[in-house]
Amino acid sequence: MDRQDTILIIDFGGQYCHLISRRIRDFGVATEIVPADISFQELAEKKYIRGIILSGGAMSVFDKNAPTLDPRILLLSVHFLGICYGHQLLAHLQRGRVQQGKSGEYGLTPLRVINRNGLLKRLNKTESVWMNHRDVVTKLPSSFLVLAATKHSHIAAYASKDKKFFGVQFHPEVTHTQKGDQILKNFVLDIARCKPTRSSLSLVDSIVAEASDSIGNRKTIIALSGGVDSSVAATLVSRAIGRRLTAIYVDTGLMRHKETEEIKKTFQKIPLRLKVVDAKKQFFSALKGVTEPEKKRKIIGKLFIDIFTKEAKQEKADVLVQGTIYSDRIESGITKHSSVIKSHHNVGGLPKNLGLELYEPLRDLYKDEVRALARTLALPPPILTRQVFPGPGLAIRIIGEVTPERTDIVRQASRIIEEELRKTKHWDAIWMSFAVLLPIKSVGIQGDERSYKYPVVVRIVESRDAMTAQFLKLPFEILEQISTRITNEVREVNRVVYDITHKPPATMEWE
Ligand code: XMP
Repeated sequence: MDRQDTILIIDFGGQYCHLISRRIRDFGVATEIVPADISFQELAEKKYIRGIILSGGAMSVFDKNAPTLDPRILLLSVHFLGICYGHQLLAHLQRGRVQQGKSGEYGLTPLRVINRNGLLKRLNKTESVWMNHRDVVTKLPSSFLVLAATKHSHIAAYASKDKKFFGVQFHPEVTHTQKGDQILKNFVLDIARCKPTRSSLSLVDSIVAEASDSIGNRKTIIALSGGVDSSVAATLVSRAIGRRLTAIYVDTGLMRHKETEEIKKTFQKIPLRLKVVDAKKQFFSALKGVTEPEKKRKIIGKLFIDIFTKEAKQEKADVLVQGTIYSDRIESGITKHSSVIKSHHNVGGLPKNLGLELYEPLRDLYKDEVRALARTLALPPPILTRQVFPGPGLAIRIIGEVTPERTDIVRQASRIIEEELRKTKHWDAIWMSFAVLLPIKSVGIQGDERSYKYPVVVRIVESRDAMTAQFLKLPFEILEQISTRITNEVREVNRVVYDITHKPPATMEWE
């Protein structure tokens, strides 16, 4: 399969590395991020690379263990753009001079544009750029030109006269840099001449073709969770290999309202073999009498794996498809941080010793790209617009023992919360909204009679990255409507409270 024109990003540990990639993909051009110690051979084999960007990084080129590049890479006939650390390293490797600045240059900085062609085409004479550095390039090789300067960095941007090497001391990938997108476009589209071919439609074609090549005639399974990632992965692989793909969906009894029905409805129409394993009894009996949150999580995780392993063996499959996406693969703070606090479980966490070859069709995609694919594949709205949902399901939203009855209370109350919020303009801003059941009872009055029933907590949070979250400051009228409907429609509840705690100090889920 011919690979489309691609910009390779060499990661020098810059916190902005993935932003560079996101920006460029927004122009319809493919990107690939590789570590700085990539070998010359490996890189030279990537014939589809049109340009190489050297990202920023926290080090100084003078540091003892400073990351560098195999100098032969600079001989490849592609265009190079260094950003921040990359800008300094490119100059350093070409025998320019880099020195430690007298002081750092941080934040929004006026840039005097000296040469408004090539890399800085369509920029004004003065622009505002985002700086974050201490070292500066103070001398360029004779074959290089200065393109722009700031008060602190006399060489804030440069180009080699043969237009092969470019560098910018500032960060074009952050939105604070006013014309950052224009600069990246100038490099990617005009200088490196990448053809923007990446669209959701072309992505579908290339993933399907790759899946077909990689899997061939082999029997394949996927654990379907109903989340957007595994749904998209299953749909794409089914386009490649049809009914040689078996999707296994374990109904734990801990799913959201109509989730299982929705999965059946959607995936029965897709040419794959859908196997719905009704494991409700097994899960509820394993959870009987268990109140400790970590114990619940461990029981659910293990049972899920046991059931899946048994089904996988029965299927006699050779390949396991997982919906792992790019962010799952980067060693992100979220995995490290969360695993300390809670034993995370999801279907992406299947054991390696299943004896199956792993295939991850979405491994290079970001979440919003997967969502765009889901729209292109016309997956139904309930799957498309579903909020993230934890692997252990509703069990960790029931404090104390998990029983079918209590699960149903949480499920119904959460459905009402969702129905009410979907009517408001707040829905799109919400990361998660749900009910939590407390294992206590309080006195109320319903229909002129004393009642003694459960309270539910309404939890509604917004978040950008799951690491931190804020409770939503919703108008009281909306909360009132939620409260009224829950106490009217869910028989076992007579009191509703709103959780007004951010994360930290709380977590989003209660367990
Ligand atoms: P917390 O409660 O840690 O949740 O603030 C952050 C995000 O992670 C989700 N979550 C999980 N997701 N398996 C998952 O796949 C899990 O075990 C799990 N526990 C929490 C939670 O729903 C929220 O979106």
